[in-house]
Amino acid sequence: MEYMAAKSLPTLIQGGMGVGVSNWRLANAVAKCGQMGVVSGTAIDAVVARRLQLGDPDGSQRRALAHFPWPEMAQRVLDRFFISGGKSPEKKHRAISMANLRMKSAAIELLIVSNFIEVFLAREGHDGWVGINFLEKIQLPNMPSFLGAMLAGVDFVLMGAGIPLQIPGILDGLARWDDVQMRVSVDENTEKHTFVQKFDPKEYCPVDPPELKRPKFLAIISSDILAKTFVRRASGYTDGFVVENWTAGGHNAPPRRVDRKAPPPEVYSEKDDADLEKMREIGRPFWLAGGFSTPEKVQEAIDEGAAGVQLGTIFAYSEESGITSEIKADVVRKYFDGTLEVKTDFRASPTGFPFKVITTKTSVTHPDIAKKRKRICDLGYLRQMYVVKGEKVGYRCASEPIDQYVNKGGKVEATEGRHCLCNGLMATIGLAQLRENGEEPPVITSGDDFTFLDRMTDGKSAHYSAVDVVEYLMSGVKVAPVPIPEPVDV
Ligand SMILES: Cc1cc2nc3c(=O)[nH]c(=O)nc-3n(C[C@H](O)[C@H](O)[C@H](O)COP(=O)(O)O)c2cc1C
Repeated sequence: MEYMAAKSLPTLIQGGMGVGVSNWRLANAVAKCGQMGVVSGTAIDAVVARRLQLGDPDGSQRRALAHFPWPEMAQRVLDRFFISGGKSPEKKHRAISMANLRMKSAAIELLIVSNFIEVFLAREGHDGWVGINFLEKIQLPNMPSFLGAMLAGVDFVLMGAGIPLQIPGILDGLARWDDVQMRVSVDENTEKHTFVQKFDPKEYCPVDPPELKRPKFLAIISSDILAKTFVRRASGYTDGFVVENWTAGGHNAPPRRVDRKAPPPEVYSEKDDADLEKMREIGRPFWLAGGFSTPEKVQEAIDEGAAGVQLGTIFAYSEESGITSEIKADVVRKYFDGTLEVKTDFRASPTGFPFKVITTKTSVTHPDIAKKRKRICDLGYLRQMYVVKGEKVGYRCASEPIDQYVNKGGKVEATEGRHCLCNGLMATIGLAQLRENGEEPPVITSGDDFTFLDRMTDGKSAHYSAVDVVEYLMSGVKVAPVPIPEPVDV
């Protein structure tokens, strides 16, 4: 099969899927085909720590670590987490410290190293495009994570779930080894203090700083208005956009308010569609996302002026993705017997963003499982900061134990219907934490559109690879190479 020259922009972006669904294996397979493979940087520190505690059976983590530029830091991570032969199944995974405003150096080192590992492995053996995905909503681990990914030579950083206007400038700064800082969002900040997290990359670099490439930055947005905001107000250059609609998997943008004074509606309408004419006018490359999993839809996007499309669900159910084979088989079976329901859940995510869920008998969104699960917050990626007093901040998550949340000044209503996505998503990729009454249950997210299964499979089960996906989606698609844009003054 012939693919476009690797270094014009890719037509397909295999979207970032956290936690660990779009892992290095998937991204590597996609990038090898000349398209863009994107690993998820979300909670990758916990993922790597657990892979090492399971004994790193395929040796991949240690292989990547052997290439980490600062061997002593790599060794410290190995010493803390690697268990030769794997931990005993009756033992819990060791906790890692939760991210906060002033993180301990061990936590920062784990972030740098784990992001390096994931990108290094995704880039191994080819020179195709590799990106890394983060969520703006999870701010605190981001700066050290970018450094780790950049040390491994990541080509793109893709970010959504919020409006990451500060990120392009931070990437510029890190590429120069400058001190960087990020304003963080803190609730109940009635006195309007500015809270910043600082990060000096040189503090972690024991040798002469190696040269770092500034990755291109793609903002994941749902509207042309936001695209304009990035062009005008971002702290550095935004190289392009992924325009994601509300049928996409994972978190979605909330529906557009019709009435500013009324609460946000829980239905989407054509008001939520981005204006592609306006996107074209902006003149930067963009990819469309959400239900584009046929060659006809890929062609349609290109004909609309997009550089291509970003896809999630079709790759999430491919052989290489991190979702356990049991969950993949369960969901695919549901699709074929007509019982699959993909629901936009406006409560599930502690972030407050709508989140797509599929409920199975074993997943945490099933009412019986949810009732049985004892609330606990021990990964803490979705904790929100709030002002305790003056400039002192606290951390709380609407899915933590209710009494704790309320003691921290949170409202009990805010806890209703919330699920622990951190523990749930770790379970979905086979890295569940062990509790007294068994393992943490998984949480399953996917996009609305599964019709690709009718064309990709025998109608009974799904066994297809990432390469099969690329071949299927590109079959018959006519695409002119899209040159790599260079930053221009605006
Ligand atoms: C399992 C799953 C997890 C996802 N996680 C993320 C994520 O962590 N960050 C993100 O920006 N998008 C996430 N997405 C969205 C995808 O990157 C992609 O944009 C979207 O799924 C495209 O729609 P489609 O599923 O219809 O192809 C996720 C999607 C899926 C299916």
